[in-house]
Amino acid sequence: MTNPVLPTPPELDALWPEERLIPPPPHLARRAHVPSRSTLAAFRAEDFPHPFAALADLLVWTRPWRTLFDDSHPPFWRWFEGGELNASANVLDRHLPAAHGRVAYHWIPEEESEEPRSLTYGELLERVETLAAVLRDDFGVHPGDRVTIHLPMSLDLPVAMLACARLGAIHSVVFSGFSARACAERILDSGSRLLITADVYRRGGAILDHKAKADETDALVTEGGGRLDAVLVFTRDAERYASPTPLRSGRDHHLNPLLARRRGTRVPPVPRASNDGLFLMYSSGTTGKPKGCLHGHGGYLAWVAATCRWVLDLHPGDVYWCMADIGWITGHSYIVYGPLLSGVTSLLYEGVPHYPDPGRPWRLARRYGVRVFHTSPTALRALRRLAPEGPGLERPPFEILVTVGEPIEPEVWRWYHETVGARRAAVVDTWWQTETGGHILATLPAADPMRPGSAGPPLPGLEVAVLDEEGRPLPPGSKHAGTLVLTTPCPGLMLGLWGDEERYVRTYYGRFNRNPHSHDWRDWPYCPNDGARIDTDGYVRILGRIDDVINSSGHRLGSKEIESAALAVPWVAEAAVVAVPDTLRGQAVGLFVALGPGAPEDPAHVRRTLEETVSARIGPIAHPHHLWVVPDMPKTRSGKIMRRVLAALVAGRDPGDIATLANPEVVSVLAEIVAGEGTARQPPG
Ligand code: PRX
Repeated sequence: MTNPVLPTPPELDALWPEERLIPPPPHLARRAHVPSRSTLAAFRAEDFPHPFAALADLLVWTRPWRTLFDDSHPPFWRWFEGGELNASANVLDRHLPAAHGRVAYHWIPEEESEEPRSLTYGELLERVETLAAVLRDDFGVHPGDRVTIHLPMSLDLPVAMLACARLGAIHSVVFSGFSARACAERILDSGSRLLITADVYRRGGAILDHKAKADETDALVTEGGGRLDAVLVFTRDAERYASPTPLRSGRDHHLNPLLARRRGTRVPPVPRASNDGLFLMYSSGTTGKPKGCLHGHGGYLAWVAATCRWVLDLHPGDVYWCMADIGWITGHSYIVYGPLLSGVTSLLYEGVPHYPDPGRPWRLARRYGVRVFHTSPTALRALRRLAPEGPGLERPPFEILVTVGEPIEPEVWRWYHETVGARRAAVVDTWWQTETGGHILATLPAADPMRPGSAGPPLPGLEVAVLDEEGRPLPPGSKHAGTLVLTTPCPGLMLGLWGDEERYVRTYYGRFNRNPHSHDWRDWPYCPNDGARIDTDGYVRILGRIDDVINSSGHRLGSKEIESAALAVPWVAEAAVVAVPDTLRGQAVGLFVALGPGAPEDPAHVRRTLEETVSARIGPIAHPHHLWVVPDMPKTRSGKIMRRVLAALVAGRDPGDIATLANPEVVSVLAEIVAGEGTARQPPG
């Protein structure tokens, strides 16, 4: 049996031929944490979980752990059980006083004429303690409380996260580009009573009113039966509240005067149990409702600390720049927790990478002397298209070039390696997920050869397999694609889904676990829902999601979420969302709609309404780049929309067996509409 979503062997060979290995730049080994694989020889997957005990030494504990790996409640694995620690103390206090004056973050405003602002480790701790004092003493935040943070890329964002962590509260950061509705949904699910937000921020040359979203969020929270006690507002400019949306007395609090009153208060870090929650990060899945991935302390922090050494090779004082947004897991693990645990100096950039021109990232990297640079295939595709010459002769001192979030095409990989890195830097393609907390597949920059398009082998101590539809491992070098699984647990893996144990087990373990009563971790392969192919030498190539998740520009979007948004338009009768291959974004959102009574005649009106509704309900990241108005959807006899058929049509693939559809005749009509990018209005079916 084959999986209809995965490419067939001939398609694989055409699209993803096995590439040559490229040796790592030899000079990297001189200074690297892992100069060769033998450095980590103790991390043998066969010895699981014992080698991971060594990772605990990367952290500072207030109480030592007793049980390395607690498997008493499968598959809810717990790491370093019995231990206690505080995350903010691990990323800040531990470096002091030695690193007091070392810059933790250079904040770079989007406008080049505006002065960057820097914050040392000492100053960052002071800001974290001050905000923690406000949260604790003015708003009664307790350990275990959830606090929602809806902030753009400003210094206030890591400060807010770490202030929560200092108090043992669980932060739930919502990406600033998400709509008020998305924010409200997350507040309601997590039961947060506080929202930390900002007045305005800059993006793409515009000043965006962010506070307006907080008002709308609050209204939606109330409508949903929740209640926000307070909305705390940071201002982008120290003294000036710049939003046209006024502060509402009683509910809204301008943070500056509150912080001024508490400045200098020392707030001792609250020790937390290793497996208490540190943060929630909501992620899209196959159903309409985003899942709250709950990450803990010991396992998560140990794993990000380890991967910052092994994969990013960060050393104290290194200059590092990850262009992701802190509002996603990449930013949590590899802009905030990991880099601060490693004691590096990071750039924190407010805006879009190629503003005002595609030379901006290279100018910044040169000016600050960035050694380790971290971005996504989408950003690379855009930079390459806009300015194929890359950084030119005045190259920044890049040694490690990291990519994450989507499959990277070999041509784009080679541009990164040859033009951006002048073949002197290692390219590291890291595969992981919100759920895994940190890297799972990656090459080690000084130790492993690289292969364009392959994320590489699992990290030391872990094991993966690519399974066929019956759950049998495909041999390395197989002509077939299969489903990737992680066959050993990983310390970075989330604790579970907030408030939904059953969904956690079903989503990640339901497919390949054969014995739900087993206490043996070997019976619980973790299924990330990605298709993959395994090379002859065990390197893994990720082919993309095999569930209803679309990866557009590295943003993970649930098809069902976008469909529900479209269905909120009263005259939309049916909606189906599929991924459309896209040369810039990897995948784009393709929306099929069938219209019902009351629909406007004008196709432009239909399009505008759908675009605005999706943007308002989710955010501009879910923008439907393609819209097809169709008379009917392909359906099974039980009335289920066959997205697989739609996906095949938009990708120009054979839709496969359509004989079992209730309405096979519709397929040729749809094929014509797709071929004509037909937004032409069809009469309501
Ligand atoms: O499909 C994989 C893709 O992104 C998904 C995870 O998305 P998210 O939880 O938002 O985390 C993104 C940052 C880690 C995965 O299931 N993905 C992630 N990294 C890669 C990738 N696809 C191919 N290559 C990668 N390096």
